[in-house]
Amino acid sequence: MQIIDGKLISNQIKEEIAEEVKKYVNSGKRPPHLAVIIVGDDGGSQTYVQNKIKACEAVGFKSTHIELPDDTNEEFLLKKVDEFNKDENLDGFIVQLPLPKHISEQKIIEAINPAKDVDGFHPVNIGKMTIGLDGFVPATPLGITELIKRYKIETSGKNVVILGRSNIVGRPISILLSQKNEFGNATVTVCHSRTPNLKDITRQADIIVAAIGIPEFIKADMVKEGVVIIDVGTTRVKSEETKSGWKLKGDVNYEEVAPLSSYITPVPGGVGPMTIASLMQNTLKAYKMNI
Ligand code: GUN
Repeated sequence: MQIIDGKLISNQIKEEIAEEVKKYVNSGKRPPHLAVIIVGDDGGSQTYVQNKIKACEAVGFKSTHIELPDDTNEEFLLKKVDEFNKDENLDGFIVQLPLPKHISEQKIIEAINPAKDVDGFHPVNIGKMTIGLDGFVPATPLGITELIKRYKIETSGKNVVILGRSNIVGRPISILLSQKNEFGNATVTVCHSRTPNLKDITRQADIIVAAIGIPEFIKADMVKEGVVIIDVGTTRVKSEETKSGWKLKGDVNYEEVAPLSSYITPVPGGVGPMTIASLMQNTLKAYKMNI
């Protein structure tokens, strides 16, 4: 069993980006610039956003962090998006999800200029990814493909089972892994809450991508020996072991499943850090198109 060290790989990627940024800045160019908008005070989102800002500093990007109150209206947020779309010195920006219920996430996503949509959530970028054109790929799926590439995990001809069909993870990763590319050519099955006999399907999997947000859902009897586990779950559960009073749990029961696996991503320290590295990669890409 080999642990897939997302923290290590994400640090490598960030170092590679920092080197590249240094070259641009040394040649007299401005650094890449990412903005993050957060609405409301969701604890998880606040932590994610702080980590994104910290990563910007680490790679030499300029960052702008806008915090808006929970009662911000949709019109105001759309105005902010429009302002960012027009700002020539801003390469990319993201609006952290989830948004408060009174704001339409889809409306906000569709208002973002696809050339600045470093989250890769705009339908134009989703469409490009779907037909294999160059665009922005959402950060978590991009991070997963990067782990697969750097650990040289064979996907061609393999049975991949994905749990979860979200627009952010399950759906896009199912598309990428079935495409004709160096980390694709897999036979992909997407399972969800209406899938009967789930265990029969997951036991056939050479690779499982778990993205359902149910802590420790995948148990030893649901996998075959030698399976590759990509655990995208990051549910906060109460814990008396930590100072913060909570800890992150993945969708896979690590204690039970790790000994049966050939490769496994831990939680934390697996897919999570990769998501941020991928956002930095996308921002650098936006910058290169913009300068
Ligand atoms: N919420 C959870 N993951 C993400 C992400 O990758 N981007 C944004 N904008 N919001 C999120």
